[in-house]
Amino acid sequence: MKLSVIGAGYVGLTTAACLAQIGHDVFCSESDVEKLSKLQSGVMPLFEPHLEDVIEGVRKVGRLHFGSTEDAIVWGDAIFICVGTPPLANGDADLSAIEGVARVIAKRAIGYRLIIEKSTVPVQTGAQLRKHLSVHSTKGLKYDVASNPEFLREGTSVEDFLHPDRIVIGADSQRAADLLREIYEPIVQQKFTCPIHPNCPKHKDPIFLATDTNSAELIKHASNSFLAMKISFINMVANLCEQVGADVTEVAYGMGLDPRIGPSFLNPGIGFGGFCFPKDVQAFIRIAEKSGCDFSLLKEVEKINQRRVEHFVEQVRKELWVLRGKKIAVWGLAFKPNTDDVRFAPALSIIRLLQAEGALIRAYDPEAMEKAKKEIPDVTYCHDAYEAAEGTDAVLLLTEWEQFRKVDWSRLATLVERPLIIDGRNALSREDVVSNGFHYLGVGGISAAPQMAKSLVSTSHSH
Ligand code: UGA
Repeated sequence: MKLSVIGAGYVGLTTAACLAQIGHDVFCSESDVEKLSKLQSGVMPLFEPHLEDVIEGVRKVGRLHFGSTEDAIVWGDAIFICVGTPPLANGDADLSAIEGVARVIAKRAIGYRLIIEKSTVPVQTGAQLRKHLSVHSTKGLKYDVASNPEFLREGTSVEDFLHPDRIVIGADSQRAADLLREIYEPIVQQKFTCPIHPNCPKHKDPIFLATDTNSAELIKHASNSFLAMKISFINMVANLCEQVGADVTEVAYGMGLDPRIGPSFLNPGIGFGGFCFPKDVQAFIRIAEKSGCDFSLLKEVEKINQRRVEHFVEQVRKELWVLRGKKIAVWGLAFKPNTDDVRFAPALSIIRLLQAEGALIRAYDPEAMEKAKKEIPDVTYCHDAYEAAEGTDAVLLLTEWEQFRKVDWSRLATLVERPLIIDGRNALSREDVVSNGFHYLGVGGISAAPQMAKSLVSTSHSH
């Protein structure tokens, strides 16, 4: 089918590339001219595992094109809207980009179009879109509006798109529902060439859930808010563990054994970041408020998350006493591993607080340094984890990239001023760290000193 994707951010670009990968003819538009010209000349504007290869492959066979919004609207029988919905000062999602696209569709498209909102939007946006299109259409546009929320995680978005647990569509006409089913049929049937796994093993069949537009929109916001709630919950448990002398890793493991709870999203740390959870929780609170529902549970989720950064800095302060003039290494800047995205990254907030107290930051991240430099230029950016640690009083692990787990601790011990690791993600092996003479401090009551190395070996078990 001929499909258009409006917006080439993390979601739009993954959507366009993967739809082309499963056999559709896709036109992807981007309004940022610099980004568009990069895409047209084969340069990736962002880092996302597998995406570059997929794009290269589908462009070679002529199934993916980049260009303007106007051309995209003329191209596709179905148009996926994947533009940004950033937060406004009051927490509402800013829908102006979606409104702008709808206006162009209304003015330019002739004949039938299926218009699909994929950006995360407040419930009833589909209804607003329908109204807006009917007010502005001038050229005899016939259309359906459908919702198709994305559940892509940055860092694994290609895999999430091609091997999803569920595909949710919200459609209020049979024609729209049938078209969406047709678009996703290769994924539902698992009949496409998988660019990730050679000899791709059969995955669990995804569930294709077709519902009404309002419910589909709510599924997305409610899912993200629920996951954020899980994280804030375990972060509060971590605080409690610190006070009473328990180990949050053990507590989370024990809780997760109950299938009703499940083990995922119970990793405590420096709080959730990124461009989804913080803004989606805020927007969901506002939607509830406007609808007369007091969802104060989510206000607590947000508050707990905001306090994580200050709580972590307090831990650093406790250890280092005076921060002024102290050299501190920061490992990891992205809001999570396997992405270069630093939007709402807790690592950047932590650095700003430490700098405000006069600390000197030496930072390293495998992918996110270019983007971080634009946000916080007055940091010494280093070539690797070792260089960042040179002469420092503490190494802070703020994003759990795999390469930090594989550090040569004996080499690191020769570089630092003081052997102290503060692990904001509980990602490192305490045993490895302390057996090389470091003091280890994690989140949620976890600490270990070098003299404990032997006892850790004898008691440690892997979860
Ligand atoms: C999230 C959702 O997981 C996706 O399903 C959704 O499609 C996406 O938002 C979106 O709305 O577009 P993403 O923001 O890429 O995906 O990242 P997550 O893996 O969910 O992590 C979010 C934040 O929570 C990160 O800062 C991460 O470090 C933190 N986190 C996650 C924890 O602190 N603890 C955990 O146990 C899990």
